[in-house]
Amino acid sequence: MHRSIVTGCGAYLPAQIVTNEDLAKKVDTSDEWIRQRTGIRQRHIAAEGEMTSDLGTAAAKEAMAQAGISPADVDLIVCATSTPDETFPATATRIQEHLGVTQGAAFDVQAVCSGFVYGLSVADNFLRVGQAKTALVIGAETFSRILDWEDRTTCVLFGDGAGAVVLQATNGAGAASARGVLSTHLFSDGRHHDALYVDGGPSSTGKVGHLRMEGKEVYRHAVVRMAEAIDAALDANGLTPGDIDWLVPHQANMRIIESMGRRLNLPSDRVVVTVDRHANTSAASIPLALTDAVSDGRIQGGDLICMEAMGGGFTWGSALVRW
Ligand code: UT7
Repeated sequence: MHRSIVTGCGAYLPAQIVTNEDLAKKVDTSDEWIRQRTGIRQRHIAAEGEMTSDLGTAAAKEAMAQAGISPADVDLIVCATSTPDETFPATATRIQEHLGVTQGAAFDVQAVCSGFVYGLSVADNFLRVGQAKTALVIGAETFSRILDWEDRTTCVLFGDGAGAVVLQATNGAGAASARGVLSTHLFSDGRHHDALYVDGGPSSTGKVGHLRMEGKEVYRHAVVRMAEAIDAALDANGLTPGDIDWLVPHQANMRIIESMGRRLNLPSDRVVVTVDRHANTSAASIPLALTDAVSDGRIQGGDLICMEAMGGGFTWGSALVRW
């Protein structure tokens, strides 16, 4: 068995910033409501013609540069997205082409806001069993394209962006104190479809459709399910909340993030927050937050990072990574 270690991370945010005030000119909302209920101040929105694969490619390039690898080294690309460029082929194959990678496998993973944790898990398992050596795990989204811009209950919550990590295989399973992905834990329950879904798609309406969400219902499940996923990760590694150095959560709502931090007894400065600047970027939110905290020097070698997410499906999950 091998273990995968993260050797680089990268991020990309589209240039255009839309503030809460900007949105208040279009729908019946206010900066005060959005900040109080979610913590969001602004979001980035992709330019016309800028596609999910463009965002993902930019983030992947940065991650590859940090890892010091070239396109010839990459033998697996997993792109987590719910907003692919096209119904097919996979956005991962578009990114593969943009990066100049011509070997290995490239495919998408669709688990909505849990997508990055799912993608990390898939890539980690490929590396563990020796089926790949160097993987790119990318979370890339253009949710602005599936929002109903007249629905104030959803359009204020999301943004566009991409984040990526390079995972590389090392020999040996390694101890919990050694660098690498310690474990990943994935869950889903399809009975909750109606709480968060897109009312379209090639097989149902033939149209792209818009995101629909019962926010309160999602919120209620999110705090319980993500807590369970973190407990599963700690139990599997014989660790306790006190061992966690950084919580890098999915960024949907500041109140959810704070409640997860409190539950783990973590001081607020040990919880990485980007929701104020990025809003909810779905599968991109965790690698964006991770890159934020790595690039400003908060996350250091040897730190234990706990990631957790919950999204449409419902899907949810967690990952523990020793940096
Ligand atoms: O990433 C996937 C996971 N997603 C999440 O984790 C999202 C989880 N849910 C949430 O974050 C919260 O439920 C929301 C932020 C979506 C909503 O917050 P809430 O405290 O649950 O508000 P609510 O939906 O109960 O709405 C309260 C009121 C309603 O008015 P009435 O019925 O009380 O008169 C809404 O119509 O706020 C109204 N409202 C708004 N007002 C101004 C809803 N959206 C807005 C808005 N601006 N944008």
